[in-house]
Amino acid sequence: MTLATHIVGVGGYLPERIVTNAELAARVDTSDQWIRERTGICQRHLAAEGECTSDLAAAAARKALKMAGISIEDIDALVVATTTPDLIFPSTAASVQSKLGGVGFPAWDIQAVCAGFVFGLAQLDAMMRAGMFKRVLLIGAETMSRILNWNDRSTCVLFGDGAGAVVLESRNRADGSGGVIGSVLHSDGAHRDLLKAHYGDGAPSNTPDFHTDAAGVAAIEMRGNEVFRIAVKSLSGVVGEVLAANGLTESEVDWLVPHQANLRIINAISKRLSLPAERVVITVGFHANTSAASVPLALSHLQETGKLERGQLLLLESFGAGFVWGANLVRWSL
Ligand code: UT7
Repeated sequence: MTLATHIVGVGGYLPERIVTNAELAARVDTSDQWIRERTGICQRHLAAEGECTSDLAAAAARKALKMAGISIEDIDALVVATTTPDLIFPSTAASVQSKLGGVGFPAWDIQAVCAGFVFGLAQLDAMMRAGMFKRVLLIGAETMSRILNWNDRSTCVLFGDGAGAVVLESRNRADGSGGVIGSVLHSDGAHRDLLKAHYGDGAPSNTPDFHTDAAGVAAIEMRGNEVFRIAVKSLSGVVGEVLAANGLTESEVDWLVPHQANLRIINAISKRLSLPAERVVITVGFHANTSAASVPLALSHLQETGKLERGQLLLLESFGAGFVWGANLVRWSL
């Protein structure tokens, strides 16, 4: 029996609190105009005090389960893609499993920073096609606000908190066409210093022995301009690669569901694909860069617009620190 992995539910969650560009301009030397022109970002959502990545993830997962018309008892694996886990261990997936009332099925995190959801979809698709799981929750969730240096204007204006989730279901290919068609993933660790989040003086695996300062402070550092150039080049390459590997062309793509880091990067990729603006999902304006949550949030937004139709071809792509980058092709089947 040949199996295919279908997306049968999708949900997004953004914390209540909205922080506008104007509010940030009152804190650091920036302006609404600079942020909009350079990034397309107008605002971001920030998690409330005590609200963790697992809370955001669980909220998005509940919506995806509802749309799929199933409950947590029907799930047989749960994966959270995050770079801002609740704790170093146990995994955020373990917390989400518990918050959703699930027991027994495997739950684990994956870390591919902003590309975590795209990596997770590729990984789970392979496992599901091998027959390991029937129904799986894949969640991208982040509280990026907790690892930002709020005095660094070059990074603090760029990120936000949020979560997006999908329910994946494995079906016999003979029962209908559609589902995940294929994925391409890449990494290049040579660029790891261009975008990183340190923890205290280095850590967790790099703290001095017997250190006594348990309260390490994490913060993102980025050489934005260099990241920008490599992101455009890498994403332009991988979208062409995933299409060619699956015998498809740019003109067949109905929706580009891109990583929402910067509107100028998204525009460069849509131009590369010759896609008109109305075929490109753009949500970066209202939630900024939510890292692993960004692609599933964009997908959830697309689904909510009601424009998504059965049989349409979706191209998902993302790029993140490492660098890591990848793309998935999905034939929508609902
Ligand atoms: O999700 C993971 C992948 N991440 C990304 O894809 C992010 C990629 N990078 C970017 O999106 C862009 O590089 C940024 C939005 C981060 C920066 O835009 P840029 O056009 O590359 O600007 P830049 O870094 O070259 O900086 C231009 C100027 C600099 O001033 P000088 O040296 O020209 O005087 C910066 O100091 O803008 C200044 N600047 C700011 N000005 C006002 C940097 N941040 C700000 C700010 N407000 N927030």
